[in-house]
Amino acid sequence: MKTPSPVLWSGERLRLLDQRLLPHNVCYLDFVDAKGVATAIKDMVVRGAPAIGITAAYAVVLAAQQHGSNAAAINADVEILAASRPTAVNLFWALRRMRRVWQAHDHRDVETSLVARLLAEAHAIAAEDRAACAAMGQRGAAFITAGSNVYTHCNAGALATGGEGTSLAVVREAFRRGHLQQAFVGETRPWMQGTRLTAWELQQEGIPFCVSTESAAATLFRQGQVQWVIVGADRVAANGDVANKVGTYPLAILARHHGVKFMVVAPTSTIDGALSDGEQIPIEQRPPQEVTMFAGTAIAPAGSAAFNPSFDVTPAELVDVLVTETCAVERPSRQSMAALWVHRA
Ligand code: MRU
Repeated sequence: MKTPSPVLWSGERLRLLDQRLLPHNVCYLDFVDAKGVATAIKDMVVRGAPAIGITAAYAVVLAAQQHGSNAAAINADVEILAASRPTAVNLFWALRRMRRVWQAHDHRDVETSLVARLLAEAHAIAAEDRAACAAMGQRGAAFITAGSNVYTHCNAGALATGGEGTSLAVVREAFRRGHLQQAFVGETRPWMQGTRLTAWELQQEGIPFCVSTESAAATLFRQGQVQWVIVGADRVAANGDVANKVGTYPLAILARHHGVKFMVVAPTSTIDGALSDGEQIPIEQRPPQEVTMFAGTAIAPAGSAAFNPSFDVTPAELVDVLVTETCAVERPSRQSMAALWVHRA
């Protein structure tokens, strides 16, 4: 894979690819403390649900490196990390896993330090995500028949995960199988993850793509140019409702109206069985300046208010298939989602 990894551990530092500068500037920022990492997550240096989880795991290693056996100080850093972005459940899932390691650690153990144990867990979280991406790619690509065009939203690729991506792992694998004709890449306002990140990833792999304005999706679907919409997720509730980048919900409605299939690809670390439906998923509201300004220049009249939710919720009934690393759930519902828990156990 040609896309650089968004998250690297190097010696005693965490290196994050600054995704705000892509695709024209490939530059890593180095972090030695968890607070700095929390700010980087909030500021979109690193983004995408699985990548946020992996980053937070390594940030807990930084906290332990900095604070030694001062449990209160490590805990305070974990709270700051947990407050960085509220929607991607992978963040909380990864922090829970790290907390378990730390709570189980016996400080009298001189053989293996707490930092070493935490680092092993962070590496495991990253490696498991890489393997999950590969499995999702295989499972999802089985639905894509020869000659298909797909439409993607946001970036759920290598830049958002520890592997080839979630939805983009499916796109990559469909291309390798010779089944993909072309991918339409929704631009994804206001951060333009489609135009800047997904287009860059696909170009590096030689996968044919065409960037589309978001408002043109209906026209593409009506013209019969798209067979599958394929998206990632930030959180999936127990009934199969899906929170993902704002704009996903309207795409799902358009897809159903035009007979286009709708696939959600997400690892089980993105499934939140504790929330019974999508109404309960916390939706991040981002600053109005992200909408009223473009590339640092004001475009709206001074003082304009802006509605800028980062995510929306797609009801399960609009999803044709939810692909995870363990199984594919067709027409997800509270009942059919139970298959996930069986595979997980
Ligand atoms: O605001 P972002 O860029 O973090 O939003 C990312 C998305 O919505 C992705 O689709 C989702 O996190 C899945 S990434 C595999």
